[in-house]
Amino acid sequence: MAYEALTLHRLSPHLGAEVRDIDITRPLSNAQVEELHQALGEYGVLFFRDQPFDHDSQKRFGRYFGELDIHPNTPGPDGHPEILPIHADANSKRINGERWHSDVSCFQAPPLGSILHLHTVPPLGGDTLFASLAAAYEALSPQLKAYLEGLTATHSGERSYRRTNRLIGVDDAGRVHPSAVHPVVIRHPISGRRGLYVNRGFTVRINEVPEEESDAILHYLWQHAERPDFQMRFQWQPNSVAFWDNRAVQHLAVWDYYPNTRSGSRVTIKGQRLAA
Ligand code: SIN
Repeated sequence: MAYEALTLHRLSPHLGAEVRDIDITRPLSNAQVEELHQALGEYGVLFFRDQPFDHDSQKRFGRYFGELDIHPNTPGPDGHPEILPIHADANSKRINGERWHSDVSCFQAPPLGSILHLHTVPPLGGDTLFASLAAAYEALSPQLKAYLEGLTATHSGERSYRRTNRLIGVDDAGRVHPSAVHPVVIRHPISGRRGLYVNRGFTVRINEVPEEESDAILHYLWQHAERPDFQMRFQWQPNSVAFWDNRAVQHLAVWDYYPNTRSGSRVTIKGQRLAA
């Protein structure tokens, strides 16, 4: 695809591009927004360096791509309910995104994308891994593709959010965490490519087969979708930004920097129901 308003530098064979020579902390032109949207569909995840966002500029950037979501389990800071703090330090007992996942896939309409800005990064480590759902689907055998055709899976926030709340000392006894059913194989709304939409963080059951079979198939699919050859790894610097498409990639945050601090914030853009 040709780009006139953006300078893009591809980072790996299946996914990821760095966008250079752009200041996303300031208002953007229609041409820049249009091409960022196209590039997100083409590369699945876009990276930017040296973007000192504050909450307002991060939200303005996010709103170019849709309405912002509010996280179902973690409240935002005062006056910014759409901001999800991403923070770990020597007192942390857990971090966001320690398992492979696609953000909030337990929502009926999972988020289109997420935009993470880190202002503080550890001296070493704290990378984020991304894996292409399309590369994972395309590498399945024709027999397995045929088996998965038409199947749906339940995605639930129960285990992940209950664990988080227990570790941070929040009583969620009366709360019902979201769950949703999605096709196992989705069609990407921008690129039209098929993607394997199951993840270790939220997917709990393939609905049309017996439970033991669902467990075995899900374990195989999680492992397959996490293969290193479908992945890329992003090394953060202060004021780097990652903008990923949750219908194109899943991701994992590596917690190898304890007791150092890694800190920033995420906004999440509302999506739509996923089509098979
Ligand atoms: C997340 O899952 O949004 C966190 C990703 C990260 O901290 O790298």
